[in-house]
Amino acid sequence: MAATSPRGRLQGKNAIVTGAGGGIGLETSILFAREGANVLMADVSAPALEKALAKVKEVVPTAPRVETIQCDVSKEAQVQAMVEAQDGWGGTDVIFNNAGIMHADDDDAVGTPEKIWDLTQNINVKGVWFGSKHAVLSLRRHKKTRGSIINTASVVALVGSATPQLAYTASKGAVLALTRELSIVHAREGFRFNALCPAPLNTPLLQDWLGDDQPKRFRREVHFPTGRFGEAIEQAHAVVFLASDESSFVNGADFVVDGGMSKAYVTPEGPPTAAPQNLGR
Ligand SMILES: NC(=O)c1ccc[n+]([C@@H]2O[C@H](COP(=O)([O-])OP(=O)(O)OC[C@H]3O[C@@H](n4cnc5c(N)ncnc54)[C@H](O)[C@@H]3O)[C@@H](O)[C@H]2O)c1
Repeated sequence: MAATSPRGRLQGKNAIVTGAGGGIGLETSILFAREGANVLMADVSAPALEKALAKVKEVVPTAPRVETIQCDVSKEAQVQAMVEAQDGWGGTDVIFNNAGIMHADDDDAVGTPEKIWDLTQNINVKGVWFGSKHAVLSLRRHKKTRGSIINTASVVALVGSATPQLAYTASKGAVLALTRELSIVHAREGFRFNALCPAPLNTPLLQDWLGDDQPKRFRREVHFPTGRFGEAIEQAHAVVFLASDESSFVNGADFVVDGGMSKAYVTPEGPPTAAPQNLGR
């Protein structure tokens, strides 16, 4: 793996990544560090964070500054402490509000338990709100004229699914809507808000749930023009772009990274395309 370039695409930026313990968050932390950002990796799971930090340091030994903080994004005091932890670094420039859950008991309108509904909204929606709120406060506190807030939604906020997870879908729709609104509210302060919409991925969040159930798996895979699920690193590359000044005129976007899934009707036959390697595995 290449060492940090002296002119990385995120050189000198202070970035926070939530849900950094695995999946998209870990891949993004690696790419952020490789592009010269100072990265604060946050997750609710301390063991996951410890492993993830070791991985970032292994893959990017020249990373300028990488630290971790345990944070449950559904608790405002913890989110505030997370963002304020970067005050001594010069203040946050980029926050990737990425932590989210998809609960196994999430179901349709009839079968979803209320406590699962509430838990999902608390993490997936309130967590993104708190992250956005404290990022804005920090950007103002540090008199920044540029900032990038990237919030993880999902393609299920854009297309319906006959295998419902209603609480999850509603939460991701809320992420899209709140991100769009904030992008307009803060546009003249130079604070950009974009929503990442990943397709189903080859990460534990989905794969643990699918397991070895081939029919369940195929029912989803058939919708991909490329014939395969996405990889976390394919999301992370998009997040680097959204975090960097290269995307200075990209604001309020539903930034869809789905291999064409949400544009497809009948998909091609034949073997799937090759997937890129994740760096955190
Ligand atoms: N994997 C997919 O198929 C897929 C598709 C679309 C969107 N997404 C979204 O992408 C984001 C990341 O997903 P992933 O696939 O990398 O998942 P993942 O399960 O691999 O990683 C999620 C991380 O979030 C952490 N987390 C969970 N609850 C938290 C909380 N309350 N506070 C802080 N951290 C918490 C977990 O410990 C975990 O490390 C999520 O918002 C998810 O909804 C995933």
